[in-house]
Amino acid sequence: MNGESEPAIEDNIFRQLKEKFSDAELRRMANGSMIRPEVDTVKHDFDGDEICIGLVSDTHLGSKYTDPDMLFQAFDVFTDEGVDMIAHCGDVHEGLSHRPGHMYECTHLGYSEQLEHSREVFGQWIDTDIYMIDGNHDRWYIKSNGALIVEELCKGQDNLNFIGHDEGDILINGITIKLWHGEDGSSYAYSYRVQKLVEAFTGGEKPNVLLCGHTHKAFEMFCRHVHCVSAGAIQRQSKWMRSKKHESHTGFYVVRIGINETGVSWFEPRFYPFYR
Ligand SMILES: [Fe+2]
Repeated sequence: MNGESEPAIEDNIFRQLKEKFSDAELRRMANGSMIRPEVDTVKHDFDGDEICIGLVSDTHLGSKYTDPDMLFQAFDVFTDEGVDMIAHCGDVHEGLSHRPGHMYECTHLGYSEQLEHSREVFGQWIDTDIYMIDGNHDRWYIKSNGALIVEELCKGQDNLNFIGHDEGDILINGITIKLWHGEDGSSYAYSYRVQKLVEAFTGGEKPNVLLCGHTHKAFEMFCRHVHCVSAGAIQRQSKWMRSKKHESHTGFYVVRIGINETGVSWFEPRFYPFYR
């Protein structure tokens, strides 16, 4: 013992926590969770009638199955297409699980190396707003040591916006675009998982557009008046996904959306596949 009384030790610990976390974060911890229970909504300043969105997901930076050059190729297309903003549907980083052998599938090992790597990669795209959520791979760091790697990546970067754990909403000139990742698995039919999610929205909760990550599948569907795109992945097919017999759709989207007083007037997603 260093001679400090128990109340003094508690005061000291609480002071350190107060320095590190906001009141809202402390309240969430007191409720037993580091995860925000509510869906965050951010507003993207835009007042036109046609918006162009660059869409990527599952970059898994730090994985040996991810070639950052493929993300840079997406950035080049986004430049050519003149996108107004970029959306990333989670699994920004590979993370580090307790699965045997996972560490041998990483080019960058652990929180610090992967964060440094993602800062370097996203630091090369500074002209356009990028909205990100985290995915289950990013959240392995929350589960193991409480670290919020995607939030940390976005801190202090003007164009990088962390908009939520697992899901987040972007409000654009009257329409809502929801980014979603999920912790569930692939469904036998690609579209079934997304269809069930849309069916699970309660009245008044449906977004106009739903952009999904996690399964590494690329498709578009229209369900209950929601325009849905499953974003594919920047990560190539991995040994783990092949062992589970999961197909990987490697590529990215450019999504053009017409906006009028009724919401979405037309919807045009275009997939750019990588055939490797
Ligand atoms: Fe993923």
